[in-house]
Amino acid sequence: MSESTKPRKKTAGKSRSKASTSPKKRADKKPKLTARNADKHVLYQLAVQAPELDAKIYSRWFKRYTGRDLRVLREDFCGTAVLACHHVKRHPDNVAIGVDLDGPTLDWGREHNVARLLDQEQQQRLTLLQENVLDVQAPKADAILALNFSYSVFNTREQLGAYLKNCYRSLKPGGVLYLDSWGGPDVLKKKTDKRRVKGFQYHWEQRLYDPISHRIVCAIHFAFPDGTKLKDAFVYDWRLWTLAELRELFVEAGFEDTHVLWEGTDPKNGGGNGKFTRKEKGDMDECWITFVVGRKPGAPRRSK
Ligand SMILES: C[S@@+](CC[C@H](N)C(=O)[O-])C[C@H]1O[C@@H](n2cnc3c(N)ncnc32)[C@H](O)[C@@H]1O
Repeated sequence: MSESTKPRKKTAGKSRSKASTSPKKRADKKPKLTARNADKHVLYQLAVQAPELDAKIYSRWFKRYTGRDLRVLREDFCGTAVLACHHVKRHPDNVAIGVDLDGPTLDWGREHNVARLLDQEQQQRLTLLQENVLDVQAPKADAILALNFSYSVFNTREQLGAYLKNCYRSLKPGGVLYLDSWGGPDVLKKKTDKRRVKGFQYHWEQRLYDPISHRIVCAIHFAFPDGTKLKDAFVYDWRLWTLAELRELFVEAGFEDTHVLWEGTDPKNGGGNGKFTRKEKGDMDECWITFVVGRKPGAPRRSK
């Protein structure tokens, strides 16, 4: 699924999917990237997201869970809403709702993603709401995605529980909630992982981890061939939630069949292989990224 902010599993340099938004030829003609001419949202999308592929994968899992096509998708913490755009593009009946608190980020998404990826008719099927994810309940969605650990801004059980209950209220009967989650001993270390992306370097800094509160502070920096750097392009002050806590909170919110999708390991490099399966026991990976899934009761289930 999504490339994610943190390098997946043990692989620090996993390259993103080719099914991305980057127009290869045009990028070649552009002047070399520097801290002065770079746009942090473009770099983030290139380094961290694989929205076309993600939209396909979440739809497939939804079909597998419910036997129905995923039509109404809500992307919480949507940022630039690139995934929501790709969901809309996938089918003429697809509808997406993107929710984010940050007006400038949504505006950037409107200009660079919505206007460029979607035609007029498709744009009618996308709604972007500048709202707190705690406050939105309509329109009711078939599935809600909260990716790149964004829900970790909720740092108490009370807050995260309230968010999950709100997701429950916002889903149609049989609807599916997907959250991604990360962990492993590597995540707890103070360090910076660096990965080359076309024309720049992506740096993921783990700045602070407090074992008592599970507060974790991370930052994304971008470095360029001319030696300039966009430092603290994005800074995240989060709680590191465990899978056990997330599953318990899903159940408390009313979700059924709450489970984890665990990524398989690529025997060649020990990194993730991009294939997710339901598991009750995880592996002792240095670093893992996984998904917690729950379904709102009320519609026939198809498969596990
Ligand atoms: C890590 S970015 C995630 C972007 C994108 N979803 C992704 O997968 O890469 C987190 C986003 O969450 C938004 N955000 C933080 N708290 C929020 C809240 N309570 N309600 C809505 N959006 C929120 C921020 O404005 C930011 O755009």
